Amino acid sequence: MRIGILGTGSMATALGGAWARAGHSVLVGGRNAAAAATAAAEIKAAGHGSLTEAAAYGEAVLMAVPADSAPRLAQELAPVLAGRTVLDCTVPMAPGPDGPSLTTAGGTDSIAARIAAAAPAAGVAKVFGICHESIWTLPRPAFENTPLAVPFCAGTPAAAALTAELITSMGCSPLPCGGLPRAALLEAAAIFAVGVWWSGGEARHAFPSPALAPGAVDDEP
Ligand SMILES: NC(=O)c1ccc[n+]([C@@H]2O[C@H](COP(=O)([O-])OP(=O)(O)OC[C@H]3O[C@@H](n4cnc5c(N)ncnc54)[C@H](OP(=O)(O)O)[C@@H]3O)[C@@H](O)[C@H]2O)c1
Repeated sequence: MRIGILGTGSMATALGGAWARAGHSVLVGGRNAAAAATAAAEIKAAGHGSLTEAAAYGEAVLMAVPADSAPRLAQELAPVLAGRTVLDCTVPMAPGPDGPSLTTAGGTDSIAARIAAAAPAAGVAKVFGICHESIWTLPRPAFENTPLAVPFCAGTPAAAALTAELITSMGCSPLPCGGLPRAALLEAAAIFAVGVWWSGGEARHAFPSPALAPGAVDDEP
């Protein structure tokens, strides 16, 4: 798959590196040409270029810039993003008195929904924002003998199919979590998990399935 990356920072190189290792063709795009060249060399990408060139290159386009910059960048690139799938890994996080909190209003408002509104002819998926960048540098992320589950919320069936294909190609397990209106929940979940880690807890221990409880009742959610 051809993947364009918008951004040259930690997530750009972590995910881009994972995709290059998985055999995808990656082009790193940045507003700083030297940074794009350095990032591309680091991950053995197929090439580097401007943000517009990266958007034009990819069937999938990773949005790896700060959350508050993403909708405007999507708007600027909207004509180029038409017909492509935008993979939105951004997390709208800001410090709060009790730990990190959302910068969006919550509810159904999310950065993913704002990107979709800014680039209406693109498919958008909220994905890859739950894990710290370091996880994507692992060869095939798996824990307790189970491939990493990667939750995503996609705005179109085509975006969902492409996202699932990409996740599978990384040796991970796609976890579809509904449409774009639910992306706000993923964004909030990422921030919630960061707060747990920062306070010394382990978020993954907090979400066992009810099916693991002896005599569990099959409640409807
Ligand atoms: N790091 C993590 O573990 C992690 C985990 C989950 C989700 N995320 C999310 O992933 C996104 C990227 O995070 P990161 O850690 O990779 O950040 P980062 O290392 O700071 O890199 C950010 C990149 O965005 C570029 N950028 C900043 N403002 C821009 C703008 N207005 N237009 C175009 N490019 C711009 C920067 O370019 P310059 O160098 O030119 O400034 C840089 O290449 C964020 O939304 C973050 O919430 C991060």
